[in-house]
Amino acid sequence: MGKIIVVSSGKGGVGKTVAVSNIAVALAKMEKRVLMADLDIGLRNLDLAVGINDVIVYDIMDVLDEKCSVEKAVFTLKGYGGVDILPAAQTIGKDSLEPQKFKKMFRRLRDRYDYIIIDSPAGMEKGFQSAIASADCAFVVVNPEMTSVRDSDRIISLLEAAEMREIRLIINRVRPQMMRRGDTLNVDEILNLLQIPLIGIVEEDEVVLKSLKRNILPVNESSSKAGKEFYNIAKRILGENVPITKLSGSSRFFFRKRSR
Ligand SMILES: Nc1ncnc2c1ncn2[C@@H]1O[C@H](COP(=O)(O)OP(=O)(O)O)[C@@H](O)[C@H]1O
Ligand SMILES: [Mg+2]
Repeated sequence: MGKIIVVSSGKGGVGKTVAVSNIAVALAKMEKRVLMADLDIGLRNLDLAVGINDVIVYDIMDVLDEKCSVEKAVFTLKGYGGVDILPAAQTIGKDSLEPQKFKKMFRRLRDRYDYIIIDSPAGMEKGFQSAIASADCAFVVVNPEMTSVRDSDRIISLLEAAEMREIRLIINRVRPQMMRRGDTLNVDEILNLLQIPLIGIVEEDEVVLKSLKRNILPVNESSSKAGKEFYNIAKRILGENVPITKLSGSSRFFFRKRSR
């Protein structure tokens, strides 16, 4: 039975979709059967990340509304290690956003895959509950900024309230020099605040910035530092012992630990 990982965040634009697409493809390249599912309903862009936005006919809502079978909506991406993708709907069918419906669908799907990676909406909307309903594990993506960290703190509390057993942190868009100078929060400060185990530290990377326009995926680019770290995260998911390089930084502020 496959493991379901939901990738979430407090605020939008922190790199969830980038994380989902790169981790999913990295796992697929390591011969795992992987489905990436876009539950960012109404704001879909996982399809864009892998360049299939023009060819989508059915989406996740059509499956939930029983307009088509899941097989019809799932797309296999040949150039990306054979990863499957279940695209989100562009329009919101509010009645369909029932966490139980998603749960039922993913329960059926999990037999066919080793990993299902879910891209979820930011924040705490109903879509968030649907996205986490069936997951075994949640990755929270955070940027080294106070606003991002504070919003993640809320999400982590919600995940804990939902009894998510495994919660891991991805710190994304790290600029090592700025971090070292103490211009951004550093890794220890973030960990101190959020109190969840780390699964990866991804640097700010030009390859990520140009990936959509150039129709490339960082994990497929040997020059991409971010791609390399997403690959490492995939290895850590598989249980390999790949050490995380912590970028040290000077502490400027004193932060209170999360209260539990
Ligand atoms: N490591 C990174 N380096 C550079 N740009 C990044 C990185 N991660 C994300 N981005 C950029 O940030 C923006 C938001 O990322 P996205 O994955 O769409 O966020 P979310 O899904 O959380 O809303 C995108 O333009 C993306 O290219
Ligand atoms: Mg997104």
